[in-house]
Amino acid sequence: MCGIVGYVGPQPALEVVVNGLARLEYRGYDSAGVAVLGGGSLRTEKRAGKLANLRKALEERPISGDGAGIGHTRWATHGAPNDVNAHPHVDNDRRVAIVHNGIIENFAALRMELEEKGCKFLSETDTEVAAHLLSSEMAERGGDLPAAMRAVCKRLEGAFTLVATSVDDPGLVVAARRNSPLVVGRGEGENFLASDVAAFIAHTREAVELGQDQVVELRADSVAVTDYDGNPVEVNEYHVDWDASAAEKGGYDYFMLKEIVEQPRAVADTLLGRVTVDGQLTLDEMRLSPEDLRSVEKIVIIACGTSYHAGLIAKYAIEHWCRIPCEVEVASEFRYRDPILDQQTLVIAISQSGESMDTLMAVRYAREQRARVLAICNVNGSTIPRESDGVLYTHAGPEVGVAATKTFLTQLAACYLIGLYLAQVRGLKFGDEINTVIAQLATMPEQVERVLGTVEPVRELARSLADTDTVLFLGRHVGYPVAMEGALKLKELAYMHAEAFAAGELKHGPIALIEDGLPVVVVVPSPRGRSVLHDKIVSNIQEVRARGARTIVIAEEGDESVRPYSDVLIEIPAVPTLLQPIVSTIPMQVFACELALAKGNDVDQPRNLAKSVTVE
Ligand code: F6R
Repeated sequence: MCGIVGYVGPQPALEVVVNGLARLEYRGYDSAGVAVLGGGSLRTEKRAGKLANLRKALEERPISGDGAGIGHTRWATHGAPNDVNAHPHVDNDRRVAIVHNGIIENFAALRMELEEKGCKFLSETDTEVAAHLLSSEMAERGGDLPAAMRAVCKRLEGAFTLVATSVDDPGLVVAARRNSPLVVGRGEGENFLASDVAAFIAHTREAVELGQDQVVELRADSVAVTDYDGNPVEVNEYHVDWDASAAEKGGYDYFMLKEIVEQPRAVADTLLGRVTVDGQLTLDEMRLSPEDLRSVEKIVIIACGTSYHAGLIAKYAIEHWCRIPCEVEVASEFRYRDPILDQQTLVIAISQSGESMDTLMAVRYAREQRARVLAICNVNGSTIPRESDGVLYTHAGPEVGVAATKTFLTQLAACYLIGLYLAQVRGLKFGDEINTVIAQLATMPEQVERVLGTVEPVRELARSLADTDTVLFLGRHVGYPVAMEGALKLKELAYMHAEAFAAGELKHGPIALIEDGLPVVVVVPSPRGRSVLHDKIVSNIQEVRARGARTIVIAEEGDESVRPYSDVLIEIPAVPTLLQPIVSTIPMQVFACELALAKGNDVDQPRNLAKSVTVE
């Protein structure tokens, strides 16, 4: 949440910063602002609304700088999303400018203290206290911005990334982090700071990870990192394995449309290199030994939103293949219920961004209880995998659209790999059984491609439903979390009432919602796998249809038994029951995306949302 950019170097800082913000806008789009240093003064501009408003203001009233620049795109927490509350915030003498991601929890006490000393506050934000504090700490330290930043951080409670620049040292940007993301980009004679590498990938692919409670001093030709006491710390450098084109729309009107189409590649890349020549599954990067995994007695999956739905599906596969009890819990609830964890518990934390604060806090709690934590994550070097005992990276590439699509499918692939690997190391299945499922998994990119080739009727259907108020989703077994994912996509993109139910639960109350013409999407399990399940859901379809529902049925090709009860039949390829979510989710994604577009919504930046949710 909130995107932050910092730059020091010979290029026009304003341009570098604004272009960086454009690549981070998915992190928040309530307002945007920049500060550059020029002619011995701070030049700032900030505007409520999307980055386009800031760009327009800068065209009308250009500002320029000659060295350092910082920028921010906001997801509002404290104070309405207006021009005044937009970042950067400056001190009363306009000597420092600061941008912030996170929440300063003790801001009220600090504000009172600063007001008593005569500071004049202009905004309602928590961030502004950091600007005034920084200025006063600088005054006490002869204008030493890094030392002042370290002193400020020690006084702040909560989660924050802060990036600041000052007229006293125009070739310097200083940043600090605690529980909020920040990464350095190393260039030739120039350096960058950002919430994620997308902001500087057009300039450099060399990045530096920053740990918790660290301060970085960025100059054109140097990067120095210390802890809050000023002690130098070792940093981890890495090469980003994707380039700028991966974070561009590539001819599509929206990132989401491109990311849906990228799914076969994303799934294939996630499966790539996981099987040795002798057919053994190998998850080397995971950092958990076979002995560790053999001692696991219980699995708890924690995640939020779409990642949570991936976890719900994983439970079916893991329990079926490994016979290990598996619980799945929304991360924001997990640590408040006093969960029972010990060294024999494996906690799997699923997070695309690796930065969701709810999941991060749950990971920390689990580790405090001595459980081992394995992360499934899409962003290299992000906080959750860094703080976990092991990690399995999905290789979906950058996902810019706020709604998760390709990363969901790759999370499923990663969950299946973990389930099969656990079965392998625990000797629970014969090698050839595991190989059969691996071979089936390997065909999934092709199956995904096939589904994508048949979704035009889904688009037409979505457009025809643009004026509908409510859509219900039903599923059984792994189809239930798929139905939940379909409903979530529709809520977040089309802003309409969408709700998912376990199909068998309908008769216990929700069936009262069914009225004439109400669209009900039903995910039907394969008739080949578990025929009992299939037959039960066919009855459920008839029950809602008898009450006037318009049934939109997603079923395996060749499943003729559902045709008589389907007002619209969407066919998907026949795949094994447990793997069906990889194909059945796609029509849901396309449906929600197209319906939202028909309503005129921005599917990349749905209202009120942000991609990486770094507050609790
Ligand atoms: C929905 C969506 C969110 C995220 C959730 C968790 O399309 O994208 O529900 O899935 O905020 O985010 P990560 O996976 O980054 O922890």
